[in-house]
Amino acid sequence: MLVSAKEMLEKAKAGKYAVGQFNINNLEWTKAILLTAQELQSPVILGVSEGAGKYMTGFKTVAAMVKAMDESLGITVPVALHLDHGTYDGSYKCIEAGFTSIMFDGSHYPIEENIAKTKELVAVCGEKGISLEAEVGSIGGEEDGVVGMGECADPDECKSIADLGVTMLAAGIGNIHGKYPANWQGLSFETLAAIEEKVGDMPLVLHGGTGIPADMIKKAISLGVAKINVNTECQLAFAEATRKYIEAGKDLEGKGFDPRKLLAPGFEAIKATVKEKMELFGSIGKA
Ligand code: 13P
Repeated sequence: MLVSAKEMLEKAKAGKYAVGQFNINNLEWTKAILLTAQELQSPVILGVSEGAGKYMTGFKTVAAMVKAMDESLGITVPVALHLDHGTYDGSYKCIEAGFTSIMFDGSHYPIEENIAKTKELVAVCGEKGISLEAEVGSIGGEEDGVVGMGECADPDECKSIADLGVTMLAAGIGNIHGKYPANWQGLSFETLAAIEEKVGDMPLVLHGGTGIPADMIKKAISLGVAKINVNTECQLAFAEATRKYIEAGKDLEGKGFDPRKLLAPGFEAIKATVKEKMELFGSIGKA
């Protein structure tokens, strides 16, 4: 059931668990995540980066595919279709295409401009019942060619953005997209606690969910994180499973080259990764 992310995240924050956002790249990815969420009775958020949207020939195609697949698979758990790290223009395109949730990432603008643009989108999304995520303090690493330095967010700036009426807030606390470097300092729980104190009930979002140790994930949830984004880990699992299939020569046996067979191990690997994350985040049975 396609819905805004508002209710599922408010419930998660109150119940001290987190809803996973898993990014999609194609039909197999989408199907694997939807089926896992349904099997485990977990709410779920499908993330679409601007690059993945382009790859899938545009946000309209993505929205049409997700809507149709949600219906044809008979998915009854709450599913939000969410733009990940949207630009200002991309946010409007997704609103028009029928996304149920938007992230406007204005973290690279001066704070006044981030506030002005976010405020405008709060009004537009509010009217249409679309949930809105804002970001303060960039997330480290590289995503779609955008490189963030991973600075920690300023708790007062977080409060200024939260007070605009966004649904959820992503705040940099030393988290990084992609694989964490060996010398990573870990999450700054001091920053997270200071933000949580300022923003109260606002669900907080943790980006860069790949490779964060389980104890840090649990502590972040206890400090108000209600949404955790995972992308790279599904990609790695998919690539590894596909590589093993090819290395074993299965693509050359019988009808093993059939794309439905060739992509099946990767599909199962995504399902397993999503299940593992939902267990860790505590969202199973919370639909
Ligand atoms: P990872 O690729 O590190 O899992 O991060 C995903 C993310 O935060 C998407 O916004």
